[in-house]
Amino acid sequence: MYYDKELKALKRAGRYRTRELYNEKLLDFASNDYLGLAHNKELHTLTSKELSTHDIHAPKASMLVNGYHKIHQDFEQELCRANGFEDGVVLGSGFNANIALIESMVRKGDLLIMDEKYHASGLLASQIGSMDVALFRHNDMAHLQELLQKHSHIRRKIVAVEGIYSMDGDLVPVEVFEICERYDALLIVDEAHSSGVVGDNLMGVYDLYDIQIAPNHIKMGTLGKAYGSFGAYILASSHIIEYLLNRAKPIIYATSLSLYDTLLAHNALRYIQSHKAQIKAQIATNQAIIYEELGIQTQSLIIPIVVADNKKVMLIKEKLLAKGYSIGAIRQPTVEKAIIRLIARVGHSETSLRQLCQEIKRELHSEL
Ligand SMILES: Cc1ncc(COP(=O)(O)O)c(C=O)c1O
Repeated sequence: MYYDKELKALKRAGRYRTRELYNEKLLDFASNDYLGLAHNKELHTLTSKELSTHDIHAPKASMLVNGYHKIHQDFEQELCRANGFEDGVVLGSGFNANIALIESMVRKGDLLIMDEKYHASGLLASQIGSMDVALFRHNDMAHLQELLQKHSHIRRKIVAVEGIYSMDGDLVPVEVFEICERYDALLIVDEAHSSGVVGDNLMGVYDLYDIQIAPNHIKMGTLGKAYGSFGAYILASSHIIEYLLNRAKPIIYATSLSLYDTLLAHNALRYIQSHKAQIKAQIATNQAIIYEELGIQTQSLIIPIVVADNKKVMLIKEKLLAKGYSIGAIRQPTVEKAIIRLIARVGHSETSLRQLCQEIKRELHSEL
């Protein structure tokens, strides 16, 4: 068969992947549904009801044809207000948002400077065409500064970082904002894992660090994680959004975001705003349990536990599945060393999170 050799090599290396059907009976400590909103029936019912009052329930075309609906516009405006940005655009998935941003913004003669742990979608985008790319060591602000200094003659520099890194669960250092300002670099912050989780208003790292939004700031967020929906948004100055609407192919040449998902995310945003104190308290409680049980101090809800063995991590995952828990087992090449990726998400009882941590400790120390 055409790809036998490749598939066999993946199996030999313990890197072979399969899809598993979602099992409603398992306690979910694997997904990115950080706030449990994907289970919130009230949000679903409200969204369905609201959508039924409209003439159409699907967007039918690209935003640039006749697929831009008031449902999209209302949500974009609300996101701008909540995050302090001038303008925004919603689109289908964070993966597409990174392709849209990077492929369109990094032109010939420009330089993309990206954290080495930036998401696969950004790395893929950086390989499209022949753009100039420099990677800096993960979260190493001195290295970022060194690269910006070395390339200070380049007129347009675009820096790309994540708010909270998807596999390590660590925050981007606050210095990135000042450094980008000093070197007059555009800054893309992928807030896939930080929006809804950190900040006084739970809006992400711009909010957490209380950043005054400037024309060089771009925020990308996903709707399929803390917002319990699907899709993504990009917030920036009107000038940048105008440019994206004219050059970003995943916006121009794709059907716009589903109306249901847009409305659901809008309702999720309202929910987050009106339950802010309660959500923050629940996040803090879960982080405290993680510290007490695993000794890991975190500001996010992504808890990486190093196993460093592709086969062992899969065995631990199977054992926990048998005990009713779903956790992530992430292997090379996605991460340097295999990890259990535990999501300390809101939605399950404190007791079940604590018991899961104890099960993980037992499995880590047992001879498999
Ligand atoms: C940091 C980061 N950016 C972007 C994405 C892609 O977002 P989406 O799942 O909405 O396509 C992910 C998804 O896992 C991510 O972790």
